[in-house]
Amino acid sequence: MTHRYADYNNWAWLYNQTMGPDYSQPQLDLLKRVLLPHIPAQGKILDLCCGTGQLIQPLVEAGYEVTGLDGSEDMLYYAYKNAPQATYCLEDARTFDLNQQFDGVFSTSASLNHLMSLEDLTQVFQRVYGCLKDNGVFIFDLNHPQQLERWWRGQPTEGALSRHYAWMITPHYDANLAQGDFQVTIFQPPTQSPNFLASLFSPLKQLLYEILSRPRFIGLRLQLIQNLSKIEPRWQRHDLTYPIKGHTLDSVKAALTQAGFTAVALQTIDGKSTIDANHSAHFICTKPSQQNLIKTNIESQISTP
Ligand SMILES: C[S@@+](CC[C@H](N)C(=O)[O-])C[C@H]1O[C@@H](n2cnc3c(N)ncnc32)[C@H](O)[C@@H]1O
Repeated sequence: MTHRYADYNNWAWLYNQTMGPDYSQPQLDLLKRVLLPHIPAQGKILDLCCGTGQLIQPLVEAGYEVTGLDGSEDMLYYAYKNAPQATYCLEDARTFDLNQQFDGVFSTSASLNHLMSLEDLTQVFQRVYGCLKDNGVFIFDLNHPQQLERWWRGQPTEGALSRHYAWMITPHYDANLAQGDFQVTIFQPPTQSPNFLASLFSPLKQLLYEILSRPRFIGLRLQLIQNLSKIEPRWQRHDLTYPIKGHTLDSVKAALTQAGFTAVALQTIDGKSTIDANHSAHFICTKPSQQNLIKTNIESQISTP
């Protein structure tokens, strides 16, 4: 039996105010360019692995009927708060059955890299295929092995610092295993008020954190967060680890074909057709209409001697 993937529960409160909103605009631009032209007015869209749902509200406002599916109840809690008019579904992407069909399905921010085997990924594709209408479009992005090898090097890559929390992400990838993970380190201050000495220094620290929050100080900021327990010894540290798989582009294409998708195109988030180590791969897949499928089958039978 497949266990529902719920690893994001402990990260949800923070994801909702950092990664969720921070990355939504370029994703939304891609959806507007590549997905929405294929969706009829008021059409039905599924956000697969929707997380905290920052992409859902603008789609609802544009008149679409949106469903968000995720394995984490805490992520869905925030998605519901962010876009209460959408429908939500707590299910695993490998096994969901929504009993309805969509004009389009999308999955963003490399959510599907969490599927640790090609069999699991194929299962997701089969589910998506089954819930799409004829000529429906499925769009998703993946971090591919070349990109993971180049950038996931065991060093912190992003993070933020405020008086309420600090966090950083450290991604790591093993090319031989084609697997990796990213560690999310979160620091939180104690709930009791600080002692006299600590409260004397607190305004100075806050000023420092504010200055370091500017984009150009990313290097210094990450260094400080790595050493935060020396500066904020009372803050609690939690580490969460998220395993990922580096699926090759060819294996993903083969899995899509196995699930039934005939037309599969690839592009970067800014629309270029060459996928390199600096860009994630965005897959654009169309479900063939049954009529076309029957025609192709008949044609292939006729041409087979
Ligand atoms: C990186 S977050 C992306 C969230 C959102 N799509 C975004 O762009 O902000 C990955 C999400 O995928 C969900 N997820 C990963 N594997 C899943 C699975 N097998 N079934 C359901 N949800 C899954 C996680 O719970 C998490 O919310």
